[in-house]
Amino acid sequence: MTELAHSMLDHLDTAVMLLDASLCVSYLNPAAETLFEVSGKNLLSQPVQQAFADSGQLAVTIERAVHGRESHIEHDLSLLTHSHNKLHLRCAVTPMRLPFPGLLLEFHTLDRSLKLAREEQMLDQTQANRLLLRNLAHEIKNPLGGIRGAAQLLEQELEKPGLHEYTQVIIQEADRLRSLMENLLTPQGNVQHSALNIHEVLERVRSVILAELPEGLVIRRDYDTSLPPLIGDKERLIQVMLNIVRNATQAMQGRGEIILRTRIARQITLVKQRHRLAVKVQIIDNGPGVPPELRDKIFYPLVSGRADGHGLGLTLAQDFISQHQGTIEFDSEPGRTCFTVLLPLP
Ligand SMILES: Nc1ncnc2c1ncn2[C@@H]1O[C@H](COP(=O)(O)OP(=O)(O)OP(=O)(O)O)[C@@H](O)[C@H]1O
Ligand SMILES: [Mg+2]
Repeated sequence: MTELAHSMLDHLDTAVMLLDASLCVSYLNPAAETLFEVSGKNLLSQPVQQAFADSGQLAVTIERAVHGRESHIEHDLSLLTHSHNKLHLRCAVTPMRLPFPGLLLEFHTLDRSLKLAREEQMLDQTQANRLLLRNLAHEIKNPLGGIRGAAQLLEQELEKPGLHEYTQVIIQEADRLRSLMENLLTPQGNVQHSALNIHEVLERVRSVILAELPEGLVIRRDYDTSLPPLIGDKERLIQVMLNIVRNATQAMQGRGEIILRTRIARQITLVKQRHRLAVKVQIIDNGPGVPPELRDKIFYPLVSGRADGHGLGLTLAQDFISQHQGTIEFDSEPGRTCFTVLLPLP
């Protein structure tokens, strides 16, 4: 391949693969590496099926192109990556003669434009919701101090000790509301950006959680230790990961396995901006999964599936991640829930 062709393929947003005449991989561009979560180096000269945990109808599509000696397009191809991500793709297979007989495979994600549009709409909507909530929280917090103070004064004047039970209810509930309002009013600006190692963040989260739940919980690490440093706010990123991991432990009732995985992602679009490199963090648990009725709205404030949940953990996580120009999403089914955070690298 000429240098120009190589460099063009490397910068393409579309995932591209070249196969030789025996249907083994002879080239994979960075967009394909990211999409299929594989390393091109490891796949070279391997049969194309090795790239996936389940390559679905891909063999049939290839067979059709080879047989018909012309380009064949499969409009709805499902593939399963080795890390169990389901992909829905449109795949074009084109037989080629030069520089050697082989096949050119192009992959387009079907849900991508849909996803981008949805992401944008959700971002607008959540921003409007948050503003409303913050203003409300502010208005509620002020009189709460007065209510609490008055209940305390009243308690001192009450002669029957039995009545203190009631003033205590007022005080405790005022305190609970106050802490809820404070959570809603978390600071927006003042992000403290510095160079940081994402593994330090994850290690801190791991030790905090293991200290809380020393028994019954296994936290495995699957780190790519060659990741370059990230520019971000360490404390906020710890909070983000802690919120996600805590949700997982709560869903599993403290018993189960969590995997903390890090990878590099190349040529990726985050919040409408192309980035050459990004860090991908995945937090995977083997709990019961996100309740289906909550799946469309768990990032909204005050949405919770737990009786004692505030429904703010993921809202905050999303706020903090978008302050880093990153994205957060999840995929869930009983037995496997995976939260993926993508953060651009400088
Ligand atoms: N890993 C997971 N497995 C199953 N359900 C989950 C998982 N993560 C989140 N959820 C669901 O999403 C809901 C929202 O999570 P979120 O962290 O925003 O709020 P919360 O945990 O209910 O309250 P808190 O504000 O205390 O964090 C949870 O209540 C739970 O139902
Ligand atoms: Mg939570």
